Formats: sequence, C-alpha cells, structure tokens
Amino acid sequence: MTDIETLRTELESQSPRAILKEALARYDNIAISFSGAEDVVLIEMAHKLTDNLQVFTLDTGRLHPETYAFIERVREHYGIDIDILFPDAGEVQQLVSEKGLFSFYKDGHSECCGIRKVNPLKRKLATVDAWITGQRKDQSPGTRNDVPVVQADTTFSAPGKTLVKFNPLANWSSKEVWDYIRMSEAPYNELHEQGYVSIGCQPCTRPVLPGQHEREGRWWWEEATHKECGLHAGNLISTSEVPRS
Ligand code: ADX
Ligand code: SF4
Repeated sequence: MTDIETLRTELESQSPRAILKEALARYDNIAISFSGAEDVVLIEMAHKLTDNLQVFTLDTGRLHPETYAFIERVREHYGIDIDILFPDAGEVQQLVSEKGLFSFYKDGHSECCGIRKVNPLKRKLATVDAWITGQRKDQSPGTRNDVPVVQADTTFSAPGKTLVKFNPLANWSSKEVWDYIRMSEAPYNELHEQGYVSIGCQPCTRPVLPGQHEREGRWWWEEATHKECGLHAGNLISTSEVPRS
C-alpha cells in the first residue's frame, strides 16, 4: 500500500509533469477530473504520458455554452474520450420543484452543488483507485493554502480503501499555468477572453475586475471561507484533523 506521506515528501518539490508521470505510473485506474477551464493543462501534459488516459467532467446542467463547446473542443483536439457525468434526475427534479431553479442565491450553494456535483463525483470515485485534480494553492487563499501535491482523500474513500488524490498543479501560480497553455498552444475556454478567471456553473460564476482575486468571481454572495462546493470538502477541515494514511 502506498505511503502517502512519503510520496508527498518525494513529490512536493517536483514539476506538475513529473507528479503526473508518477501518478500515472503508480495507478492504472486513475482519472483526471476536468472542469472545462484552465485545468486543461493536466490533459495537455498527461496525454503525452499515457495511451490509457481517463478524463471525466461533471455536467451540472448549468455550465456556460462556452464551457460545453470547450469540452467538445478538448475531446477533438486530443482525440480522447471524456466521461460526462450527470446528476440523478430525480434529485434535481425534487430540488427544483421544491425550491426553484435559483435556490442557491437564497439558502447557499451546498444543496445544489451536493446534487449536481458531489453525488455524481462520489459515484465516479467509487470506480477508481486515484484521481487527479487541477486545484492550486493560489486559487483560494481562504481554503486552498495547504493543498498538497498528493493526499489521501478522506472525503471520498470507501470504507477500508484509501482513495488517493493528486493535485499536480498545487504549487503552480496562475501565471505558470497560462504560460504553459500558451507555450503548448493548448485550447482554452473562450470565457477567459471575457474576464472570467475561475470558471464554474453559469449562475454562480462571474468575471472579475482588475485586481480582484479570481475566487471573488465564484459564489460572490457568500463568505470567502465557504467557497468550496464539496468536491474538495477536505480543504475546509484543518490539517491537524486529516488522518494520516
Ligand atoms: S470548485 O470546487 O470550486 O468547483 P474549481 O473550479 O476551483 O473547483 O476547480 C478545481 C478542480 O476541481 C478542477 O481542476 C477539477 O479537477 C475539479 N473540478 C471542478 N469542477 C469540476 C467539474 N465540473 N467537473 C470535473 N471536475 C471539476
Ligand atoms: Fe448549483 Fe451553482 Fe453549485 Fe452549479 S455551482 S451546482 S449551479 S450551486
């Protein structure tokens, strides 16, 4: 069994590509979680490292048209399959018939994110041994300052099994990501040309002004410390509470 702490020490100072390479070499059943934004750099790097690339995206039903178009462009550009995951229709139906289509503006995003993102993710993660995300420390000073390059996923591990979560971009800045996208001529989401930086669902994302932090464009009506949708809920637990693997 992998000793996550040792692996983290080994990988912490390595490049995203080296971290990805190690992740893909260690796990056959590993998937990239692609949000349809600048995390395309993970696909750009990984498609050259393996012929067995698994990529999935959570289609909440509320993404921007530009994001849907981008996901298709990525599929064609790299010649890869992208597993599109949908929420449970019954759960969505119940939520919107009880509370309408914009309940998150009134009582917070966690219920809708739970149904549209977290539950489908949970189902997907039950089928893999490890996953790869595009989380970075600089994305959210309130919640992502301590994101490690690899961790035991204490939120989504099934009983008796440790799901491993790789965050190869953890130590990269936004500028490094964008330098890489330009250098490799990777495709990118056209919303980035309209002032959007961090991109999530259409009703819960807006462009940011010069000097604003990118996270201010997400769930802007809520407190900065609550700006996690549940995919990375472990970020809201203090490091001392995360069990060692
Ligand atoms: S979020 O939790 O606030 O929505 P963010 O947009 O910063 O996350 O993205 C961080 C990483 O979470 C992405 O690089 C990706 O790995 C994962 N992620 C976020 N949204 C999705 C999505 N809709 N589908 C798949 N993965 C996602
Ligand atoms: Fe619902 Fe907004 Fe969360 Fe998307 S980001 S799942 S629309 S609350």
